[in-house]
Amino acid sequence: MKKIVIIGASGHAKVIIDIIEKRNEYQIIGLIDSYKNANQKIMGYTILGKEDLIPELIDKEDIVGGVIAIGDNWSRNKVRNTIKNIVPEFKFLPAIHPNAVLCNNLKIEPGVVIMAGAIVNAEAKIEPFCILNTNSSLGHDSIMHGFSSLAPNATIGGNVSIGEFSAVSIGATIIQNIKIGMHTIIGAGALILEDIGNNLLVYGIPGKKIRDRQIGEPYLAK
Ligand SMILES: CC(C)(COP(=O)(O)OP(=O)(O)OC[C@H]1O[C@@H](n2cnc3c(N)ncnc32)[C@H](O)[C@@H]1OP(=O)(O)O)[C@@H](O)C(=O)NCCC(=O)NCCS
Repeated sequence: MKKIVIIGASGHAKVIIDIIEKRNEYQIIGLIDSYKNANQKIMGYTILGKEDLIPELIDKEDIVGGVIAIGDNWSRNKVRNTIKNIVPEFKFLPAIHPNAVLCNNLKIEPGVVIMAGAIVNAEAKIEPFCILNTNSSLGHDSIMHGFSSLAPNATIGGNVSIGEFSAVSIGATIIQNIKIGMHTIIGAGALILEDIGNNLLVYGIPGKKIRDRQIGEPYLAK
């Protein structure tokens, strides 16, 4: 089996490890993490070191690429850029749970993660490095732009556009024909009935602007 690394060592990484193990296409040789100590073990896999170890792993261990397992959309982009600077040809693999339901002809782009129970309906599009978490659903003709994410049980109607780096939090619902801007967070349980702009935090039923938000502001910290 071809060898890979998982980049990240959080709870989100555990779910991705489970997907890779289930698919049985790649052998995980260990984890890469900038914050946790090397040699710590997660689900039986050792944290080998930080991103700067990757060239050595390509040379000595023959890894063919890796999956970025970082849930925060902005942090995932930062780590992708760090690795691209160190190894421009690094292969960012997707991780698709065998029990996700995907529409015919869905193009699986680099770095995309789709978890158990997620449903992607007809003619939807998912750009690179997006996450569709457990039991989320993306309606027909909808598009998720790069580095956007759906948390567990997020429900997206047909013909919706979700902007780059935006996150739809756990249990939130967006009705059909809605456009969500970039770097916007739709809070847990929200119901979105109208278009939402860029760089906003929005929640409630119906969803209302709570405040502006800075690019990269954490939203999964608590
Ligand atoms: C958006 C979010 C980050 C909260 O942002 P925040 O502004 O930091 O909110 P706080 O926790 O400081 O709470 C501020 C107030 O808003 C309320 N509030 C927070 N989130 C809310 C929500 N989604 N809906 C309604 N009210 C909410 C709090 O109860 C609190 O009310 P209070 O002042 O009366 O006590 C949070 O709602 C959220 O959605 N987190 C992401 C969860 C998720 O999807 N996890 C994924 C797991 S895989």
